[in-house]
Amino acid sequence: MLRQPIVVVLGHVDHGKTSLLDAIRKSTVAAREAGAITQHIGASEIPVSVIKEKCQSVQQLIKADLTIPGLLFIDTPGHEAFTNLRKRGGSIADLAILVIDVAQGFQPQTMEAIEILKEYKTPFVVALNKVDLISGWKTTPNECFLKTFPQQRPDVQQALDEKIYSVMGELSKFGFDSDFFVRVKDYTKTVAIIPVSAKSGEGLPELLIFLSGIAQKFLEKQLQAETGPGEGSILEVKFEKGLGTTIDVILHNGIIKKGDTIIFAARNEIVETKIRGLLKPKPLIEMRDVGDRFDFVDQIFAASGVKIFAPGLENALPGSEVFVVTQETEGGLKKQLESEIKEILFKSDRIGVILRADTLGSVEAISHILQSENIQVRRADTGPVTKTDVLEASSIRAQDRYQGAVLAFNVAVPSEIAQEAEARSVGLVQSNIIYSLLERLKEWRVEEKSHEEEEVLDQYVLPAKIRFLSGHVFRANNPAIIGVEVLIGRIKNDYGLIKEDGTPIGRIKSIQSEKESKSIAKAGEKVAISIDDPTVGRQIFEGETFYSAIPRSHALILQDKYRAHLTVPEYELIDYIMRISR
Ligand code: GTP
Ligand code: MG
Repeated sequence: MLRQPIVVVLGHVDHGKTSLLDAIRKSTVAAREAGAITQHIGASEIPVSVIKEKCQSVQQLIKADLTIPGLLFIDTPGHEAFTNLRKRGGSIADLAILVIDVAQGFQPQTMEAIEILKEYKTPFVVALNKVDLISGWKTTPNECFLKTFPQQRPDVQQALDEKIYSVMGELSKFGFDSDFFVRVKDYTKTVAIIPVSAKSGEGLPELLIFLSGIAQKFLEKQLQAETGPGEGSILEVKFEKGLGTTIDVILHNGIIKKGDTIIFAARNEIVETKIRGLLKPKPLIEMRDVGDRFDFVDQIFAASGVKIFAPGLENALPGSEVFVVTQETEGGLKKQLESEIKEILFKSDRIGVILRADTLGSVEAISHILQSENIQVRRADTGPVTKTDVLEASSIRAQDRYQGAVLAFNVAVPSEIAQEAEARSVGLVQSNIIYSLLERLKEWRVEEKSHEEEEVLDQYVLPAKIRFLSGHVFRANNPAIIGVEVLIGRIKNDYGLIKEDGTPIGRIKSIQSEKESKSIAKAGEKVAISIDDPTVGRQIFEGETFYSAIPRSHALILQDKYRAHLTVPEYELIDYIMRISR
């Protein structure tokens, strides 16, 4: 017997994931078949009989005899849900729908979804949603796309064609071959793009048929139902009034019974507990009463979503696997879980960044993606960023400044911790989108690079041309305090100054602007400077021009190695200063 494939819906915010699932449910309810739709925890099941009766013509496209019982769809409020559907070495999701808004195209979370699907090698189709919004589109509710498409005006057809091509182009950047679904010959190699509208229901028959066909033809082995002890993964840990802490689990293999002993990973330990209750949502019709939403059941078969109620669930880690154990399997499975958790939440001596993410699933997914980008990770853990993280990153920074960062994905960063990071120049890279987390880490490294270059440049006396402003003598000597305008370059404390004829006049002791001390003044700024030696009216005069006294060795290095960091006037000024100071 085959079980239902587990199908996950992914995509950018507002591109229509929830609407699409709603539309699929509605069209199923409309089929008025008894028990057509079964609600699960975090999932809903569509029987294949409903799928089969739609659009006979479409079925010729997939050339598969459907013997799978149906499709189990998982709602994903954000991608953590997907990454939590994990098992050792992969995902329990058999298939995915990537939803893309036809008007908006690729967005950050679309790319993140693709990265994740690629990482877990999950086959997927693209639902190009909201086709009803294409200007001029004529809607026929709940009809097959293959019937409504030929009814559109040529320019409307062409507009959609262009969108499909642009999606194909974007997908190819991630290494995926894709095509308009009618042209797809081999869906193990080519990602099918199916235009749909969650609003009108157009294209949904094709979407369902395609998913069923792919599952039937290419995942058959994977879908062999087993009757052994249950295996699943924790999607969410939830508090339920009257029950206490429960875990929402997607069971992907075997059976779970009330009274079974299960093991799973919690913060810092592997927990073993006995199931007190298994809960399923009541059928849709009975859902009016919110306070009483569940039915207790005695056992559940894969694939299925179920809420488990038992003691000791408080610290369960979303993303952990759950195993039903017997006396014989307990020891082995416990060891397996332990070693697996140690692989994901690890500590090492590596010179690398520190990773914090909200769930076991997201830690694993991000670690893998970082690895594939050749980014070293020193330590990975779940939970909020701590002071220890920042201190450790700070000591890493001392060894390699580009590795001195803490990556925080979907976790809290207390403000005092953020301040600590700032004070220690530790990179605090935060995002709730994996893709942007990587982008931000790269941006931070670019900033670090320019800081580093500035620090190196700081060791040299840089070219400066300044003018002693007339009427701005604040003190004649000991030290002389005068107003100047920086014409080219920058002046800094301790720079020596020379006159137009090369005569040294002394060193800059301090720079002030609006009564505030500054360490640097750049071209365009007017500041007051104090100079040690000269006396105004004897060695220096109002209106004169001064230059920074660049040592010859500095000048050569600046011109040779740091040309890119100097403006053309600065570069030429070095030559000038060398000439007059000879
Ligand atoms: P998040 O869960 O917030 O990430 O969003 P989502 O991807 O689940 O999107 P959702 O289903 O909430 O839809 C977002 C908006 O798009 C809603 O206002 C929907 O009514 C609208 N929408 C979704 N699908 C369609 C469609 O096919 N056509 C039109 N016209 N609007 C749609
Ligand atoms: Mg949604």
